[in-house]
Amino acid sequence: MKLDEFLKSKKVDSVLAELIELFAEQSKVIRRGFLGRTEEVAGTVNIYDEEQMALDKWADEVIINALQDSKLVHWVASEEQPEVIGIDNAKTDYGVTLDPLDGSSLIPVNLAVGTIVGVYPGHVFQPGENMLSAMYFLYGPLTTLTISIAGGVHDFVLDNNNEYLLQKENLTIPDARIYAPGALRRDWLPEHRKYIEELEAEGYKLRFSGSFAADVHQILHKGGLFTYPAYKGRESGKLRLLFEANPMGKIVTDAGGAVSNGRMNLLKRTPTAVSERTPIYIGGKKEINRIEEIMNK
Ligand code: F6P
Repeated sequence: MKLDEFLKSKKVDSVLAELIELFAEQSKVIRRGFLGRTEEVAGTVNIYDEEQMALDKWADEVIINALQDSKLVHWVASEEQPEVIGIDNAKTDYGVTLDPLDGSSLIPVNLAVGTIVGVYPGHVFQPGENMLSAMYFLYGPLTTLTISIAGGVHDFVLDNNNEYLLQKENLTIPDARIYAPGALRRDWLPEHRKYIEELEAEGYKLRFSGSFAADVHQILHKGGLFTYPAYKGRESGKLRLLFEANPMGKIVTDAGGAVSNGRMNLLKRTPTAVSERTPIYIGGKKEINRIEEIMNK
């Protein structure tokens, strides 16, 4: 079933459906953009940073321009922009958050990267649990869309005719022993170290690519947990609450998992700045409950 047919069959509000389809169309532009930029992304180490920045900025422009033209949303917060952008005469009061190319430093080594989106019923400075929908696109061997909408989490895959087709409906996170721990082990704080050592003693298997969307995608489909904790020198964590933690947290939660900063459900926090960072634990309920038990003791 095609994406538009699926949204109709679930009776998704027509403007929200239009917005989801807009993101789906822009993901195709971004995917094609990689192909047109193979020389840039395969550049030498010296120019690597510059070119990677160019791709990030370009993807950001592609999506923001489409949002501005459509007037479908009132507020746009992007990881590439210092402030929330207001769109005049918008058709809705919706706000969206955007990480246009998550994991983009991995493009030159041909690992999967993603676009992460959250959709709010108003300004984006409200708790993540209020999101109307959250989704991410992964550009890997396949281009996929994973979306939380209409009470469930669903996977779509881009086919040869450039259409997103439903691959799996109502995903639920399985129970498995995989862990994806970020930050340098020598900088971990004691409670986090204890937690990870417990998981290791139980035989959890390591999987960490450095692309948040791709790593969480694996956990969502195979089980376990991803964490980028608070660590020595960065006690507020590395990942962004608005752009990374909240939308992925909403998706994993709606698939029966959970998301936390180690002490509380992240989706209950109200962001106060676009730049806000957070420690994150995301994955199976069992794993998230366990870190909260350790930290809240
Ligand atoms: O926040 C950007 C990001 O690239 C995430 O996609 C990823 O999980 C993380 O940073 C990787 O960080 P590090 O390079 O420190 O492992």
